[in-house]
Parts: sequence; structure tokens; C-alpha cells
Amino acid sequence: MPGDVGPRAANAVEVEDLSVRYRTADGWFTAVSDFSLTVSSGQRVAIVGESGSGKSSVCMALAGLLPLGAAVEATTARIIETDLTARPTRAIPYQVPGVSVVFQNAMNALDPVWTVGSQLGTAIRGRGATSRARARVLAGEWLERVGIRDPARVLRARPYELSGGMRQRVMIAIALCSQPELLIADEPTSALDVTLSVDLLELITSLTADLGTTLLMITHDIGLCRAYSDRVVVMHRGRVVEQGDTEQVLAAPSADYTAALLACAPSLAQLNDHRLTTMVGVS
Ligand SMILES: Nc1ncnc2c1ncn2[C@@H]1O[C@H](COP(=O)(O)OP(=O)(O)OP(=O)(O)O)[C@@H](O)[C@H]1O
Ligand SMILES: [Mg+2]
Repeated sequence: MPGDVGPRAANAVEVEDLSVRYRTADGWFTAVSDFSLTVSSGQRVAIVGESGSGKSSVCMALAGLLPLGAAVEATTARIIETDLTARPTRAIPYQVPGVSVVFQNAMNALDPVWTVGSQLGTAIRGRGATSRARARVLAGEWLERVGIRDPARVLRARPYELSGGMRQRVMIAIALCSQPELLIADEPTSALDVTLSVDLLELITSLTADLGTTLLMITHDIGLCRAYSDRVVVMHRGRVVEQGDTEQVLAAPSADYTAALLACAPSLAQLNDHRLTTMVGVS
């Protein structure tokens, strides 16, 4: 089982003045501007913001996975040991070494044709020379580690034979079996119900803590952000409006936008109200 975690870089992420632009029929569209973030090794950072605020664009830029044709610029963009500014912009997406990603919808991220065992085994073998038989054993161990009770059946199953929660657990195993330095989780649980979301965030945070893996997650859920992040970055219209210690920012936000976002978060106290607060006119 994994345990041989090597020394980690002091900062997993050092980004200054990142911008992301997409080419559209109407010309270049700027999705992210002036984005700066430093994440020290082992921290858990959440990015929050309404739909379209640029959260995924930031994360995909940091993972090297933006679509072909997107333009990324930054004065500093060091992810683990990789200097992204040294790469030509608009290059073919490539995965930054030491970085793994978990997406919202595991069904889209997993290949429907191949069994879980072969997909997880391939990820394990990608780490280094391991025989197929050994990779199969490790794959079973990883499935147990992510809370799958019948690993032998799941190893033989194809993704569509599993529930959404189990598929997401498989994705987590695939992402973490390489013992990445940085895990980027883009709304890893928003397709799941609340109880399952909490279970999976518990799993992600405990496994990343065991592995010494830094966690950068996107969430729409302020409750999950509060419970599972040390720092929070609030984005609006492609820019950071506020960032800091999660408890402090959520208790006393300094930006009007953050306060409005918090006011929109559904809470049990609102159960008797028939209307949720909506965001109006925050600029
Ligand atoms: N490939 C693309 N081409 C053109 N525009 C894009 C592309 N991807 C994203 N955008 C635009 O960039 C902006 C930011 O999108 P992004 O997906 O980063 O936001 P987000 O905060 O992750 O939103 P959500 O919460 O809905 O996932 C949006 O206006 C979106 O329409
Ligand atoms: Mg997104």
C-alpha cells in the first residue's frame, strides 16, 4: 500500500496574474483575469463563486488541461515543479506532473468500455514499473481504501454498472493512486446527494491528508467549504474578489459579493421560507 510519500515542495501552487481567454465566434473572451494564488503544501483551499465566474477555467489552467485554443498568460505559474509560463500558450493540453484531477461527473471522466480494474490498473502502472498482476492487487487495495466494500466485483465492472457515488469513489482512487502532490477537485460531489457529498469530502480530505497531498477544490456548497477547507478564494466575473482563512472570510466577509453569496446559501433556518435569497445587482 502507498506510504512512501517523498518530500513535498514548500508551495504546491504559485500563480500571479493568471489570465485565461477563449476564442469565440465574437473574438476573444476573457474568462479569468489577474488571478493570483499561493497554496502551501498540504493546505486545503476552496474556490467558490457563482456559475461562470471562472473557477473551472482556473483549475484547468493549473492542471494544464484547458481546451486547445484557450490562451493562458501569467507572470508566475509554478505548479509543483513545473513552470507553466515556460510552455508555449495555446499548446496541446498536457497533464502537469504531480497533479491529479477529479471532475464532477465521473461517468464522463471514466471510459465506459474498459473495466474499473483495467482503468485503475493502468493509472497504477503509470506510476512506474509494476506487473499487471501486482497492479490488480493494488487496484483492489485502492478500492477498499476509497470505501468500496466488494472490490472484487467492482474491479470486473464497467463504470455504467456502478452507482454515481461508487463511480466517484473509483475516480478518487484513480486520481490518488499516483500519490499526487496536488489534487484538483472540480465540484467532485455536486452531482450527488448531501449525505454522499459529506462522505466523499471526508474521504477526499482524509486520503489527501494521509498522502500529504495539497487539495484545491471547487464547490458551490458553502457548508462543504466551511467544513473542508483551510482557505477560501471567492471569484466573481473571472476575478478574485476576496481570499483568506475560511473561518474568517465566512464569518466576516470583506467583499459585498462574498456577503451576497453567503446570503444565498440555503440553510436549515430557511426551511420555513418558501423563497431562497437570490443575487441581485452585485458588481
Ligand atoms: N471552451 C470555452 N470556450 C468559450 N468560453 C468558455 C469555454 N469554457 C468556459 N467558457 C466561459 O468562460 C466563463 C467561465 O467559465 P468556467 O467554466 O470557468 O466557470 P465556472 O465558475 O467553473 O462555472 P460553473 O460553476 O458553471 O462550473 C464562462 O462565461 C464560460 O461560458
Ligand atoms: Mg465549473
